[in-house]
Amino acid sequence: QDWSPQKIENLFQKADNIYQQTHSHIQNKILINVFFEPSTRTSLSFECAMKRLGGQVINFQKDTSSLKKGESFEDTMTTLSLYGDLMVLRHPQPGQVVLASSIIDVPVINAGDGSGEHPTQALLDLYTMYKHFGRDFQTKTVLFIGDLKNSRTIHSLLLLIHKYPQMSIHILSYPGLEPEEDVFQKISNIHGQKKDTIRIKFESINYQLFDVIYITRLQQERLQTGESSLCNFMMTNKIADKMKEDAIIMHPLPRNEEIHPEVDQNHRCHYFKQMKYGVDIRMSLISEILSKKN
Ligand code: NCD
Repeated sequence: QDWSPQKIENLFQKADNIYQQTHSHIQNKILINVFFEPSTRTSLSFECAMKRLGGQVINFQKDTSSLKKGESFEDTMTTLSLYGDLMVLRHPQPGQVVLASSIIDVPVINAGDGSGEHPTQALLDLYTMYKHFGRDFQTKTVLFIGDLKNSRTIHSLLLLIHKYPQMSIHILSYPGLEPEEDVFQKISNIHGQKKDTIRIKFESINYQLFDVIYITRLQQERLQTGESSLCNFMMTNKIADKMKEDAIIMHPLPRNEEIHPEVDQNHRCHYFKQMKYGVDIRMSLISEILSKKN
């Protein structure tokens, strides 16, 4: 939240030629990957990024750790912090990542805290828009489709997009999974959009309006007891081809049924590119954070 657009642009430019730079300060450094929730892309892309920079990685295994002997979260964090120089932490409970960073001395990267935030995903998502549209991304219109209530990637990406008032944001939530009311207020205040035009209805979507359609899965694991919802959208080629020619389809993945696999061949499909850019952005971020430390 405290990053300026200039700082974001610097990170993007660093990522643009990350493989041309030398990273001698990373040698002998150790990244500690700590995942209390399932992950494929985030954990492995951090590991890949650190190794490509020439550093080392330790992966904490929660199910075979001393947590099983009743050790506290706090003691576990203190222990892990002594074994590395940078921690990547994912936890199901919002607030635990901040708690960890207040306990230990090594920098902590939030790799997702429950339905809270996922800042590095937001950076790679915005970087994907920058790679496609160039600096013009700052004027584009984004439609979010999905579980707006629980999707931490959307929560964090909204915060980043708020730094670019000329961008426009629209929202189409799965039933009952609308974001808090203040999200609409904030969009209206910052981006100058009329409040009643932010929400999009299925029946009347004009796909030509959007430069980016960003879709997320139903966060089934975060539904509260008694709460139920369904994913009532599926991106298909028929829909994709109604979009602008240079518009893009994004998704943080994993997907369930909200994007049909046929769309993978559509030139608007950008969700695989996001994964590649995720490594570049994480390499830049790690290099930046560890260069500051010593
Ligand atoms: C997302 C996450 O973990 O929040 N995945 C990711 O990091 N790429 C999205 C999700 O789980 O739906």
